[in-house]
Amino acid sequence: MITRTQLSRLGLFDAKVPRYTSYPTAPHFSNAVAPADFVSWIEAIPEDSAVSLYLHVPFCRRLCWFCACRTQGTTTLSPVAAYVETLKSELDLLGRHLPRGVTLSRLHWGGGTPTLLSPDMMRGLIDKVRSVAAFAEKSEFSVEIDPNEIDEARLDALAAGGMNRASIGVQDFDERIQQTIGRPQGFDITRRAVEMIRARGVASLNADILYGLPYQNRERITETVQKLLSFAPDRVALYGYAHVPWMAKRQQMIPSDALPTPEERLDLFDTARRLFAWDGYAEIGIDHFAAPDDGLTIAQKTGKLRRNFQGYTDDTSQVLIGLGASSISRFPQGYAQNAHATSAYQGAVRAGRFASTRGHAFGGDDRLRARMIEMLMCDFQIRTDELVEHYGADAGALGALYAKVNAQFDGLLTSSDDGLFLSRDARPLTRIIARAFDAYDQTRAKHSSAI
Ligand SMILES: C[S@@+](CC[C@H](N)C(=O)[O-])C[C@H]1O[C@@H](n2cnc3c(N)ncnc32)[C@H](O)[C@@H]1O
Ligand code: SF4
Repeated sequence: MITRTQLSRLGLFDAKVPRYTSYPTAPHFSNAVAPADFVSWIEAIPEDSAVSLYLHVPFCRRLCWFCACRTQGTTTLSPVAAYVETLKSELDLLGRHLPRGVTLSRLHWGGGTPTLLSPDMMRGLIDKVRSVAAFAEKSEFSVEIDPNEIDEARLDALAAGGMNRASIGVQDFDERIQQTIGRPQGFDITRRAVEMIRARGVASLNADILYGLPYQNRERITETVQKLLSFAPDRVALYGYAHVPWMAKRQQMIPSDALPTPEERLDLFDTARRLFAWDGYAEIGIDHFAAPDDGLTIAQKTGKLRRNFQGYTDDTSQVLIGLGASSISRFPQGYAQNAHATSAYQGAVRAGRFASTRGHAFGGDDRLRARMIEMLMCDFQIRTDELVEHYGADAGALGALYAKVNAQFDGLLTSSDDGLFLSRDARPLTRIIARAFDAYDQTRAKHSSAI
C-alpha cells in the first residue's frame, strides 16, 4: 500500500509533468522540420493504407476562464469563414501529395469550437475532406461539441456528413463552480444537446469533465458524475484541471485559494473513479472511462490501446495528419507542427505551401522510448518482449533501466526481466514514472543514456 505521504514525497503533488500525448513532447520540437519534410512524409504513406485526419478550429464565441487551450474569441463568423476556406486549400494541397487509395480510419474536428461553423461551412468542409480521401470501412468521424454552441441545423449537417461520435464539453454541472470558472452552462442546455445528438442516431457520445476545480468537493463531484451518468455516455474524459495562470491569462480570474489541495484533488479523482466503476465503466489509462462495449475498452483488453494528441485511441494507424493552425501530425518518421498563429498559418497556405514550422524527426532511441512511455500511459506496464521484438532493444539494458527507475521510486514498482509493472496504488504516479524514461527532460538526464 502506497501512502499519500509517499506519493507526495515522490513528486505527485508538485510536479508539472507532461501528459505525454507525444514523445518527445511538443516543447522539445525544433524548427528543424520544414514543409519539405512534411511533403516527403506524406508521399511516403503506403498506397491504399488508412490514416487519421485531425482538423483544428481555433475559434470560440466565448472564452471560458478555465480553458488552457490556445483559441481566439470571435463574435462574427467572417474570420471563421476565411479560416475554413484556408483549411479547404490545405486539404487540396494534401490531396496533391497523398498517395493513391489512402483512406481515413478517423476524422476528428477539434478546437476551440468546431461547432462554431455554420451548417454550410460544415457541409463544404466535409465535402472537401471526402474529395481528398474516402472514409475507410468502420471509420469514425468525431466532433468536439460545445453544448452552448450547437443547434438542430448544425447537428443535421454533421450527422448527414457521417459524424458518428460526438464529444461534448461539460466540465462540471454545479452552478457556483461554473460561475467561478467562467463557463455558465445550465443542465438543460447540456441535456438538450445530448437529446439532439441521440435523436440523430449518432452512435457514440463522449463527455469531458474536470476534477480539481475551485469549490469542488466530494458531494459536488458526486452530483456532477451522477448527472452525467444519467446521459449514459459511451466515454468520459476526467481531466485534472490544470491551473496555469502564467500561461493562460484568463485563469487569473479564478481565485486560487478556492482550488482544492493536491490531496483533495486525488480524493476528487478517486470519488469520480469509483462512481464510474460502480456503473460498469472500464478505467482507461490515467483519465478516461468507457462503457464495456466501447472501442477503448476492447482495445485496452486486447493490448491495442494507443495514445495520441487527442488522448486515448483504439486507432492503430501509423499516420495522423493534423491540419489547421498549430496542428501536429505524426508519421513513422517524426512529428510536424503547423504555425501557431492563425495569420502565419493562413499566409503560408494561401501562398500554396504547407505551414509546418516545427517538429521532430525521430532518431536514436526515440521510437523505443516513445513506445515505452505509451505503454506506461496506456497499460501501466512496460513489456520487454515487445520492445526486443519490434524495436531491437537489449533486454539486459532494459532490465538495468527498470531497476534504476524503480530505485528512484523507492522500490514501489515491480521490475523484472519481463518488464516494469505499476500496482493500482502507484497509478497516480504514472506521468512522473513516464518522465523517468524521457531523455529530453533535463531533470531526468541521468537515465538518458542509450538503451
Ligand atoms: C479544446 S476544449 C473543446 C471543447 C469545446 N470547445 C467546449 O468548450 O465544449 C477540450 C477540453 O479541454 C479541456 N480543458 C480545457 N482547459 C483545461 C484545463 N485548464 N485543464 C484541464 N482540461 C482543460 C476541457 O475539458 C475541454 O472540454
Ligand atoms: S472550453 Fe471550449 S468554448 Fe471554452 S474557451 Fe475552451 S475551447 Fe473555447
